[in-house]
Amino acid sequence: KRPEVFELDGRKHKTDDVWNLSPAVRHLLNRRILREQSNPLNLLKQRIINYVHQTYRKAGNRSPLFTICENEPRIVTNFQNFDSLLTPENHVSRRPSDTYYINSNECLRAHTSAHQHSLMKQGLDAFLVIGDVYRRDEVDRTHYPCFHQIEGVRLYSKDELFGKSENPAEIFSKNEERNKEKQGVHTYDAVRVAEIQLKEFLENLCDELFGKDCQKRWIDAYFPFTHPSFELEVFYNGQWLEVLGCGIMEQEILESAGVRDKIGWAFGIGLERIAMVLYGIPDIRLFWSKDSGFVSQFAGKTPEDEVKYKEISAHPQVIFDVSFFLPENVQFNDMTSDVYDVIRTIGGELVEQVKLTDEFENKKKGKKSQTYRIVYRSHEKALTKDEVNFYYGRMITISSTPC
Ligand code: PHE
Repeated sequence: KRPEVFELDGRKHKTDDVWNLSPAVRHLLNRRILREQSNPLNLLKQRIINYVHQTYRKAGNRSPLFTICENEPRIVTNFQNFDSLLTPENHVSRRPSDTYYINSNECLRAHTSAHQHSLMKQGLDAFLVIGDVYRRDEVDRTHYPCFHQIEGVRLYSKDELFGKSENPAEIFSKNEERNKEKQGVHTYDAVRVAEIQLKEFLENLCDELFGKDCQKRWIDAYFPFTHPSFELEVFYNGQWLEVLGCGIMEQEILESAGVRDKIGWAFGIGLERIAMVLYGIPDIRLFWSKDSGFVSQFAGKTPEDEVKYKEISAHPQVIFDVSFFLPENVQFNDMTSDVYDVIRTIGGELVEQVKLTDEFENKKKGKKSQTYRIVYRSHEKALTKDEVNFYYGRMITISSTPC
């Protein structure tokens, strides 16, 4: 049922008849998986930010060139999501079957490009917009109503584009015509330099993510808000993967944001697709999994760690805690890795996770004890407690002094 008022990101919005948010999407809005410590999407996001900050700095004080915008409100106006980006009035993406509407004037952002206009208007020249975006779509292995994007925008003044020289080239030309290569208002010189900068930025980013000499190819593309437009594909694991869309920003968008003397490029990267191949995650829905079999594989990882996801079983977990006294004169630290080894050796394939959960020292009696949680799970069937007890029982015998 439609609420009168819908509150999100600290703002209240009146709804009307075009409201079409399902309970399921409202649930997704509350999750914010990009902010969850060890979600692989967060790791990838952080890796990209780290790389961009290290690589691009302001000429003067060497501080990071790109401003990171991660907290833009996710409900945007139709103007932000569509009109400001020159999306035609009858474009399919405007249909209520494609976009989630709050009311006739506001929707959930369907791409991070929705923030281009307002951030330029605020005076930003170089920024990344990062966040969750929402599209009504079928759900399958690679589609989900919520996914995550990084938008990049970079504007150049004449000096920034061509360098300071006696006789610099011009950004703008009068009375030239628009063609496949450029917009009417731009000179060939300006588009050539901006395009080289754009492609260099993105190729270097791909090298960083996929390896120095990864194979890449540029494809001509169309977006209402850039011209010329391109897509970048990377050859990875035996297939071409589309990783991003980009182009020279339509000058009309800059003008309507109050930017008069600059040329700009923009790109949009989908995080899920890249995270899926980098971490070997086979299904987009897994990013939302709370199953400890998934979560534990990324816990404690840093953005620069290499992680390959091992598929977890669809069968339920069986959890056992095991506690025992340590042999005399053995320190906690010296015990732990041996215990991990023993549990994995005995439990074999059935042990999904092992974790030290408690340590206790009775100083008077001079006795130390540890507790481990063992998560068992089979790829073949639902395990029973009794079956697991077989392994568990042997473990006790080996540890020899159960508490
Ligand atoms: N917003 C586009 C999308 O979601 C991606 C894009 C961003 C393309 C910026 C060009 C420039 O598909």
